Amino acid sequence: MDRKTEIRLIKEVLALKDKGETQYHESTQTHPIERYVSDDWFKLEKERLFLNKPMFLGVANEVPNVGDYQAVEWINGLSLLMVRGADNQIRVFANACRHRSARLVENGQSGCKKRFSCPYHAWTYNTEGELVGAPEFESGFSDLDKKKLGLVEFNTRVVNGAVFIHLNPDEQVPENVVSPETASGFKYLDLEKQRVYKRRSYILKSNWKILSEGGIEAYHYNVAHRNTLAPFFLGNLSTWESWGGRDMRMILPKKPMLEAKNMPEEQWDMRQFANVFYTMAPTMALLAQPDNISIIKMVPLSPGETRLEEVLLVDAPKDGSDDWSEDELKMHETNYNLVHKILSEDWVLGETIQANMESGAVKEIHFGRFESALTWFHDQYEKELGLTDNKVAKIG
Ligand code: FES
Ligand SMILES: [Fe+2]
Repeated sequence: MDRKTEIRLIKEVLALKDKGETQYHESTQTHPIERYVSDDWFKLEKERLFLNKPMFLGVANEVPNVGDYQAVEWINGLSLLMVRGADNQIRVFANACRHRSARLVENGQSGCKKRFSCPYHAWTYNTEGELVGAPEFESGFSDLDKKKLGLVEFNTRVVNGAVFIHLNPDEQVPENVVSPETASGFKYLDLEKQRVYKRRSYILKSNWKILSEGGIEAYHYNVAHRNTLAPFFLGNLSTWESWGGRDMRMILPKKPMLEAKNMPEEQWDMRQFANVFYTMAPTMALLAQPDNISIIKMVPLSPGETRLEEVLLVDAPKDGSDDWSEDELKMHETNYNLVHKILSEDWVLGETIQANMESGAVKEIHFGRFESALTWFHDQYEKELGLTDNKVAKIG
């Protein structure tokens, strides 16, 4: 986000606040609940979205040094191995040995290695995924070519510190995987320099869309987050922009934004005035707060189940050393726990919504005019799935 955009967005919020308005859609929107609960919808999402569109995987600094790796449970039962190779390039492999498909590294495990040795028969791969060793290979596999037995690699692209992957091996991640505005947002957030403070992962009994929806409206702040967010935010006021693709940016203004009017423009700082949220569902949600960025990855496992991963990114130690000072550690730990506490308020609701939807208690849900980003989210979602009208009938 450039300076001009930052100023424009702050002015936009102030004008809405003056008028007592927020960003409205022209009408409410009503959706049947099938898309949250049905296996057919989930299958369609898998075919047309998760497996056939580029996805955000994480930030390059999750594996900052040569040999760093991270194994993650991903969509469709896939286990992915993200590795920074000896050439400093990030590669993403299927975490599956080419002998008889054992998993090389346990999901959730990370560290630094020069070699990945399979726990079954010790076929061994380097950080570029090449098979570099296999016991008794010459006698047992003399008719196979070692060079053709490297790990299965997925196409990836790193955009200003954000890593995207395409799970369809025939497809590249396009240069414009996100809009120029989001790409410039990654720069604005300085993703290339951010460091991982801590991460946690857990499974929720909720459809990924319910969880995503909670991130793109502020209508619930005064109620669901009455003791956590509400005292600091401007209630049901938010603005958002999208640029024709799946990515969008949302501004969630805080009370200090009102001080802007009494400050010279050159002192305006969006990071102090608002939380800035960049998202490309389901796996990318970057919530920028004044002292950190929370990544919230939603990995859909089934219609009613989503694996959540929270990663807290923070600045490098201020004193230039490798370790954060005690004060910095204290601040990061507090923020890490606070973010989780606030998200948990959403997740409890997400799980009850899912259970109610599965029970068939309500047949449809409604998005208000001020929940306008939800309307955009579903319009975009339908576009991605190739649906234009009569959505339920089309997949039934
Ligand atoms: S399955 Fe990996 S070495 Fe046999
Ligand atoms: Fe929330």
